[in-house]
This record gives sequence, structure tokens and C-alpha cells, in this order.
Amino acid sequence: SRTVKLAAIPGDGIGPEVVAEALKVLRAATDGGEVDFDVTEFSLGAARFKATGDILTDSDLAAISTHDAILLGAVGGDPRDPELRGGIIERGLLLKLRFALDHYVNLRPTKVYPGVPSPLSDPGAVDFVVVREGTEGPYVGNGGSLRTGTPHEIANEVSVNTAYGVERVVRYAFELAAKRPAHKLTLVHKTNVLVFSGSLWQRTVDAVAVDYPTVAVDYQHVDAATIHLVANPSRFDVIVTDNLFGDILTDLAGAISGGIGLAASGNINPDGAFPSMFEPVHGSAPDIAGQQKADPTAAILSTALLLDHLGLLEAAARVTEAVEADIAARTTTVDGARSTTEIGDAIARRVSSILTPSSAR
Ligand code: NAD
Ligand code: IPM
Ligand code: MN
Repeated sequence: SRTVKLAAIPGDGIGPEVVAEALKVLRAATDGGEVDFDVTEFSLGAARFKATGDILTDSDLAAISTHDAILLGAVGGDPRDPELRGGIIERGLLLKLRFALDHYVNLRPTKVYPGVPSPLSDPGAVDFVVVREGTEGPYVGNGGSLRTGTPHEIANEVSVNTAYGVERVVRYAFELAAKRPAHKLTLVHKTNVLVFSGSLWQRTVDAVAVDYPTVAVDYQHVDAATIHLVANPSRFDVIVTDNLFGDILTDLAGAISGGIGLAASGNINPDGAFPSMFEPVHGSAPDIAGQQKADPTAAILSTALLLDHLGLLEAAARVTEAVEADIAARTTTVDGARSTTEIGDAIARRVSSILTPSSAR
């Protein structure tokens, strides 16, 4: 059988708690099947940084790069910890991986599953994907400050948008929209204020649209998009947007879909030159870490995206089906009743029962 080399980076806070459940479900979904997962754990994150001063060394990066895919929990310690201020772990680990491994597509699907307790009373049929650019925008760290700490301080944050970088992610989004039933693509930006990058994004979408005549193209300013995401989320199909807007919109999308504990993501290098990385949209949640309160579903659904990316479509479908069944069985708005492990066990059990012949279920 095929062997997949998987790098697991549990990370900080609830990261290790949710990754443990995701690996459990991944193993259940591929048990006795066509693929073996050879998992190597990398202990990276705030604890290691505090102990050694290292965040992601060249040799860590080289070792991670030899894997077929990466599963990450969450990184970043408690933001109140003065030693970790300024997102030192998030930038030095997570963003460094996304940039070094050229994860230019940050794929973040949102679905309101049947029976899910969404905070929206009548969300309708919600099934959209945010294609967030992953390697440019304000995330490049290309700013600086002058006269720092004085009353005359000037802090500049530069958003970098290249024709190459915008076109490749826009093309990916069109390709995705052309394959999905609704054939719709919405560019979200702020072209009324961010005129230089906005113009590049709009011109790129207009130009690429010519190659995809079946895709209906729309544009929304990001502020208005937050209205429509709450008021009428079923209008969206594929949203393509820059790195920062995509970050913000996908936390909102997670909340409307029934909670950030359900939102999965993939950091994809579509060219396959580097391993892609799958992770929940949420962070390390220091407020609930170590208490078995985190919902591991986002991490588990991230393994479905991982399996899908590796072409293991049946195993991916098993995970999704099991998660859908688990969600449908939830009755309370907040899943306070079950621990992280209990949710993981329940989903793993469902995956195993899908694997056994229906007569034995
Ligand atoms: P967060 O996503 O960690 O938490 C926001 C809120 O959502 C909190 O109330 C938290 O308890 C809740 N939450 C998050 N995941 C949950 C889950 N699985 N189940 C139930 N509730 C969940 O965002 P934050 O508080 O802004 O950030 C905390 C740390 O995580 C920071 O250091 C931040 O930089 C980092 N972060 C990392 C990632 C990542 O690794 N991809 C993503 C976002 C934030
Ligand atoms: C995310 C996170 C990261 C981001 C942070 C931790 C750097 O919020 O994955 O959504 O902004 O991309
Ligand atoms: Mn985020």
C-alpha cells in the first residue's frame, strides 16, 4: 500500500488537543486501506521557543519539507505573555511555513451542515469557499517604523501585491468556481480606498474571467461583504480575496457556520513543489487550553481536506460523512456536553462504522 509521510505540528494551546483527535480520525479513515500514514511529530511553538530560543530553524524547515503533507494544530502563546509579543511565534513559524512552502492558496470552505446550531436563525443553504491569497498582502512584513517611541512615530505597513501572485490565486479561484455547481465568483476587496492593489485585483479578475465564460463574476467591498455574509450567506459560492481580508472573513464565516471549532483550512501549493499544510482556521485559544473544551471538528475536517488533496477521495468522504453525522446529532448550541476527546472518539467510531459493511453496522 501507499505510504504518506505526514509532518504533524501540534503547536500551542489547544493545538495538541485537537491534533490528537484529528490523527485518531485520520487513522480510522485509512485503517486497513490503500494508504499508511507515517507520522512525524515536530514539537514547535511557544514552549520550545521559551526553552531554546528557536522557532523554526533551517533544519526544521528542511525536515518538514521532505514530507508529503503537514497537519498543524495552532501556534501562538497567550498574547498577554510579554515574551511572545508581536506575534513572534505566529510569524516565525506559521507565516514562515506558508511563505517558504509557497502556500499561495489558503482554502477555507464554509458549510452550514444539516442540523447545525448556527447563530443565524435561517442561514439557508450555505456552502461557499474563501480562496484567500496566502503569500502576499500586508503579511509580507514589509513595513517599518520611524522615530519609534517618540510623539512623532510613523508606523508603515506595506501591502505587497504582485501581478504574478494575484493572477495565480485568481486563476485557482476561477478553476474552482468552474467546477462547482453554482459557478459563481465574488472578488472581495476595498477598491474604493486601496486603489493600487484594488485596481490590480479587479483588472486581474476581469482578464482571467475571459477564460471562464461559465463563471458569473461579482464584486463586493469587504465591509459590505460582512453584511451579506451574515444577512444572506447562501448568495456566496467562491470568494477570492487578499490575505488580510481573507483572514477576517473566514473567522466570520466560521462563526456563522456554527462556530470557529468547525472551520477547516488548507494552505495549498497547487504546483506540488512543496508539501501543503492543513490546519483549523482557529488559533491556540489560550482561554480554553488544557481543559478539553476545544471542539476538534475543525482539525478533523482539515484532515478531510488533506486526504482530498492527496487524492484519497474515499477516505476524505468518510471523514466528512462521519463529521456530518456527528454534527447532526448535536442538540445544544454550545457543545459543552462533550470533551475534545469524546468528540474525537465519537467521530472516529462513526468513521470505522462507515468502513465496515452496512450489514454489520
Ligand atoms: P483563537 O481562534 O485562538 O480564539 C478565538 C475564540 O475562539 C476564543 O474564545 C476561543 O476559545 C475560541 N475557539 C477557538 N478554537 C476553538 C475550538 N476548537 N473550539 C471551541 N472554541 C474555540 O483566536 P485568538 O484568541 O485571537 O488567538 C489566540 C492565539 O492563537 C494568538 O496567539 C493568535 O495569534 C494565535 N492564532 C493562531 C492561529 C493558527 O495557528 N493558525 C490562528 C489564529 C490565531
Ligand atoms: C489564521 C491566523 C494567522 C493569520 C495568524 C496567526 C498569523 O489568524 O491562520 O487565520 O493571520 O493568517
Ligand atoms: Mn485568522
